[in-house]
Amino acid sequence: MKPIKKAVFPVAGMGTRFLPATKASPKEMLPIVDKPLIQYAVEEAVAAGCTEMVFVTGRNKRSIEDHFDKAYELETELEQRNKDKLLEHVKDILPPEITCLYIRQAEALGLGHAVLCARAAVGDNPFAVILADDLIDAPQGALKQMVDIYNQTGNSVLGVETVDPSQTGSYGIVEVENLKSYKRITNIVEKPKPEEAPSNLAVVGRYILTPRIFDLLTNLP
Ligand code: UTP
Repeated sequence: MKPIKKAVFPVAGMGTRFLPATKASPKEMLPIVDKPLIQYAVEEAVAAGCTEMVFVTGRNKRSIEDHFDKAYELETELEQRNKDKLLEHVKDILPPEITCLYIRQAEALGLGHAVLCARAAVGDNPFAVILADDLIDAPQGALKQMVDIYNQTGNSVLGVETVDPSQTGSYGIVEVENLKSYKRITNIVEKPKPEEAPSNLAVVGRYILTPRIFDLLTNLP
């Protein structure tokens, strides 16, 4: 079984729900305390053992590339002012073994299309998808927990959260069979009314997918 080494970050959405904050800057660059959301997402992927980060970006998203790139002027300036601690923070955004790849999604045709844009970079490998705007705080990273399940089963894995039953209409809701530490998904319903929802387990922005997904996405009408 191939290990999960590649993480895809679809960051090409328009972010309309956060307007005007996202008019000129991506929602994935919104800070929580002192780090942008996308950095938390990448750190979660690194903690899960991923080494290749694939960003599916769009217009107005250049600051994401700049964030993970070297910042010569800033680093020189901090060095000259002996601001060593800050310099470390700026330099150590990514461990040295991590590579980043950027693919443009020319039109925001949806999340499935964004994932399909990563096909050439992912190839015939299983991979993780992280939506950076779903920030998950957990003692052991959510993606690491999912990678452990993938390593036991070799199957695609979806991250879910429990939601108030009255809120099912805002989420993709899964129907499950009980297994031990995880559940087998037998069905998924998009935004069901509470009385039609098969559970109160809602899909969050964490997926482990096998490359089979690409043919399914290609053949979708
Ligand atoms: P959302 O459903 O949150 O859409 O996308 P959005 O465009 O970012 O935000 P709103 O609804 O306008 O406020 C879920 C994830 O899929 C990415 C987004 O960047 C987000 O991480 N996405 C969505 C793409 O990469 N491309 C798309 O065409 C759509």
